[in-house]
Amino acid sequence: MNQDSIVYLNGVFQPLSEAKVSVLDRGFIFGDGVYEVVPVYHRRPFRMAQHLERLENSLAATRIPNPKSAAEWEALLLEMIRQTPYEQQAVYLQITRGVAPRDHGFPQEVTPTVFMMTVPLKTPTPEQIEHGVACVSAEDFRWHRCDIKSISLLGNVLLRQISVEAEAIETILFRDGFLTEASASNVLIVKNGVILTPPQNHLILSGVSLNAVLEFASMVSLPVEVRPVSRMEVLAADELWLTSSGKEVLAVTTLDGKPIGDGKPGVLFKKMWAYYQSEVRKQESEIRKPVL
Ligand SMILES: Cc1ncc(COP(=O)(O)O)c(C=O)c1O
Repeated sequence: MNQDSIVYLNGVFQPLSEAKVSVLDRGFIFGDGVYEVVPVYHRRPFRMAQHLERLENSLAATRIPNPKSAAEWEALLLEMIRQTPYEQQAVYLQITRGVAPRDHGFPQEVTPTVFMMTVPLKTPTPEQIEHGVACVSAEDFRWHRCDIKSISLLGNVLLRQISVEAEAIETILFRDGFLTEASASNVLIVKNGVILTPPQNHLILSGVSLNAVLEFASMVSLPVEVRPVSRMEVLAADELWLTSSGKEVLAVTTLDGKPIGDGKPGVLFKKMWAYYQSEVRKQESEIRKPVL
């Protein structure tokens, strides 16, 4: 991405260098907004309907009126993709409550600010897939509405920085001794052939890739249990996985410097990773169909 890259702001596709937002935008002042990141393979959005549904949920939870219908969002996303050079992309879209004099309460009349940009999609390297990655852990000190994909990400930013400074890939979070998620990913474990992951309540984001993985597990008849997972269970897991739109599914082989299982990506990870890739490759076979 550079200054000439095309972004979308309030109805206009324009170079990044020309896109300007008021300093009174409530996104800037309060972090009063929501966002989505949609992965795009071979110029086709992956699980777009699920991303748009979560966007709708985030907007409803924050009481920001949805400025567009699902069909309009879809058309806009496809146009954004069309205007950019990357085959594989991560489309970022953000909606804030809009521009208004600074006052915590909702302004009476305000138009939401809609912003969209796209960057090349960064997926795990072959080395990370083969050997797995290192993570650290921390207490989850975020608020109790982590189900909203809010742009107020200070908690996630501070927690992610712990792993940046430890040269690890992610910070895996525990609240009162139980697994929640990671700073920008969901987390699953495998124990005795069963995939375990915490319930999708207010304490975690309902990950589109997490739900894809759970769906793929049922397709290949892998048992899944959704229930609270304790810190002890994570430490004693056979396998530990991260999921996110960029990481897809990725094996964690050390946590706080200690090996998970035998310290190598596990059998079920390899199976799930292969299934995920086959689903992504289905996008390729769609490629001859016209985009619009
Ligand atoms: C806090 C958090 N949890 C989970 C996820 C994974 O969500 P998805 O799979 O929809 O990318 C993200 C993605 O950015 C996130 O920020």
